[in-house]
Amino acid sequence: MKIAIMGAMIEEIEPILSKLDHHPENSELDYILSNLKNIKLHYIADNRFFEAKYKGIDVIVAYSKIGKVFASLTASVLIEHFGAEKLLFSGVAGAIREDLKIGDLVAATKLCQHDLDITAFGHPYGYVPEGKIYIQSDPELLALAKDVARRKGIELKEAVIATGDQFIADPERKEWIKNSFGADAIEMEGAAVAVVCDAFDVPFFILRAISDAADMDAGFDFDTFLKSSSKRSADFVMSMLDRMV
Ligand code: ADE
Repeated sequence: MKIAIMGAMIEEIEPILSKLDHHPENSELDYILSNLKNIKLHYIADNRFFEAKYKGIDVIVAYSKIGKVFASLTASVLIEHFGAEKLLFSGVAGAIREDLKIGDLVAATKLCQHDLDITAFGHPYGYVPEGKIYIQSDPELLALAKDVARRKGIELKEAVIATGDQFIADPERKEWIKNSFGADAIEMEGAAVAVVCDAFDVPFFILRAISDAADMDAGFDFDTFLKSSSKRSADFVMSMLDRMV
C-alpha cells in the first residue's frame, strides 16, 4: 500500500515530514537538501516529493504550492508517477459556516469549484460539460476519520468545501459562495485534488483546520494561525495513517 499525503504549503506538511521513518536509499546530498535524514527527495515537474516509510508502509509526501493548477499537477504526479493508492490532504481553510471556529477540524464530504463559471452558456456555476459540480469524498476514508476522531475524543466536523483560485477576505463573496454551493468552508486546492483522484479512481480524503473566517480579518488571521491549524490537521492525518498501517 502506498499512501500519498499532500498539502499546499510547506507549513502544512512540515509536521508530517518530521514524523517519518529512516529511508535506507537516502544519499548524503539528499540529507543535506532535505535536512531530514529519513526522507528521499525527488524533483519532478518543478516540485519536491518526499518518499519515506511510516511504520512499514510507503508514503509519499508533497506540497503543491497554492492553487488549483499546482494542486492538480501534484496530485497527478503522486498518482501516475508514484503509484499512490490513496491520497490524504492536510491543510487549512477559511470558515463559512457560523459554528466553525479557528482550529476546528473539518472533513470534506464533497467538494466543488466556486470559481468555475460558464454560466454564459446556460450551465450552473461550478459545472463544465462532462464534469460534476460536486465530487464526493471516499466514504471509507471518511468513516475511518470519524472513528479516529471518536476514539481520540477529537471533534471532527463534516463540511462541504468550496475551492477556488482566490483567497477570500470579503463577506460578500463569502456569502455568495455559501448561497451558491451550500459551502461550509473555503480553500484553494481541495476540489482540484478531488477531480484528479476521482478521474484516476483513487480514494481521497481532504482534511482542513480552520485558520480564518474568510472575512475582513482573514489575511491577518491566516498568517497568525497557519502554523497551529496546519499542525492540528497534520496530527489528525497522522492518526489516520496509524490506523492504515
Ligand atoms: N485557506 C485558508 N483560508 C482561506 C480563505 N479565506 N480563502 C481561501 N483559501 C483559504
